[in-house]
Amino acid sequence: TAAAGMIIERGRLSCIVRPDENQAVKSTFIHRHTGTVSPLDRAQLLRQRPATLWLTGLSGSGKSTLAYEIERQLVAAGHACCVLDGDNVRHGLNRDLGFSPQDRSENIRRIAEVAKIMNEAGLLVITAFISPYREDRQQARHIIGEEPFIEVFMDTPLEICEARDTKGLYAKARAGLITQFTGINAPYEPPENPALRIRTDKRPAELCAAAICDHLHKKGYINIAQKHHRDEL
Ligand code: ADX
Repeated sequence: TAAAGMIIERGRLSCIVRPDENQAVKSTFIHRHTGTVSPLDRAQLLRQRPATLWLTGLSGSGKSTLAYEIERQLVAAGHACCVLDGDNVRHGLNRDLGFSPQDRSENIRRIAEVAKIMNEAGLLVITAFISPYREDRQQARHIIGEEPFIEVFMDTPLEICEARDTKGLYAKARAGLITQFTGINAPYEPPENPALRIRTDKRPAELCAAAICDHLHKKGYINIAQKHHRDEL
């Protein structure tokens, strides 16, 4: 015997299958169908171009509060949108998933697929998930599409999230009652080049949301139909 070893932990990448879309499809004899309603038809109907605001940040960084404030402001301005929130989705669609790296990956993959469908329906989507791994967010970007994927980094320092501890989870994690808690005993990989960086500890949520809506306006996602010819949509 020249060497011997013992597996103490399975690496993230070694056990996550990340094949291309077609390889991951288990069903055989399936075909894609297309309708006759175009993205332009939907953009004209809803007077907006769909996008997904992908909010990422630590637990307690203000994702859900901000997501619902953005939704409120968009609806008040006459736009069709929807929030997908981590805690909520984990009560239903993703109730079978926990917080291992593999389960978080699958959580994010499914949410990205749902956001994509909602975007195809013409909606603006706001997601509020920790989504701690760059690779998972990259996969979400790939699924949703480079152009409609808008990464928003909730850049609230850990000390502030922990001091807020709105759900009492940081205290539990420090006490060893929760394992794999992001920021305490599981990693968070901040975005390197987010479209927007938000400090909810410096400005109230209403102003942060207004800045994001302003970004959507400047980039031509909202308030467009009245001003522009249909070919510009
Ligand atoms: S993610 O990492 O897969 O993106 P997600 O956003 O869906 O996480 O869920 C995070 C929420 O679950 C937190 O806001 C918190 O309320 C709760 N939670 C429970 N256990 C954990 C944990 N181990 N790590 C992080 N969040 C947890």
